[in-house]
Amino acid sequence: MSATRPLNLYAVVPCAGVGERAAAGGPKQYARLAGRSVVSHTLRALGEVKRLKQTVVVLSPTDTAFESHAAEFTGWVVRSGGATRAHSVAAGLQALLANGAQVDDWVLVHDAARCLVRAAWIDTLIDACLNDPIGGLLALPVPDTLKSEHEGRVAATIPRQAKWQAQTPQMFRLGALATALMKADDSVTDEASAMEAQGHAPKLVTGSLENFKVTYPGDFALAERLLRTRE
Ligand code: CTP
Ligand code: MG
Repeated sequence: MSATRPLNLYAVVPCAGVGERAAAGGPKQYARLAGRSVVSHTLRALGEVKRLKQTVVVLSPTDTAFESHAAEFTGWVVRSGGATRAHSVAAGLQALLANGAQVDDWVLVHDAARCLVRAAWIDTLIDACLNDPIGGLLALPVPDTLKSEHEGRVAATIPRQAKWQAQTPQMFRLGALATALMKADDSVTDEASAMEAQGHAPKLVTGSLENFKVTYPGDFALAERLLRTRE
């Protein structure tokens, strides 16, 4: 006879990237938008999600900037980020497992650079996945016609039917995700694809266009405008 333990929900925030495509003169998660760093906007939204028991931020081992850019953050910080996003996330999962989290607990992985996320969207994902056997992710149906490229010209048009853009958070069981990431190859850029490679079909939960990831130089101004015009 086993008593059912209430499942906990955790968040892992990979924050160990260098932001090469953003060309912001330093890691993009520390760029300032509307008076705060990118990552502090992200952590503030996560902090409003009452069902999250703990948030782990994963930094590069050489990071000396985080604390000054996220002074109000009271969760856990680990400096064990790796060469790829998948390695950084895996390091965050190991930190959770080493500090009392269980393999059947849920974990929501959310990009530090996805600073426009809102607590309400995270709650939507949690509600959609809590009774699901696998878990899922926020995503958006692709609205535009898709092209593949060869040397700056269109090589082909790709049907957009049934195509979605993956966002974060992505919510899975801690143990299953840790195993999937351990087996993942270097082409894996999100948790869902690691889970898919293990034969799982994550649930697609409609997110918001506003939940984009600050990636290219022009994204900072758009993110700033959206943050400044929020009530
Ligand atoms: N990330 C990480 N560890 C890495 C690479 C990325 O923790 N080795 C984090 C980033 O800090 C970011 C998130 O994963 O919050 C999403 O990755 P991405 O947008 O690709 O960020 P960067 O890798 O920093 O940017 P780029 O790919 O342009 O260099
Ligand atoms: Mg990257």
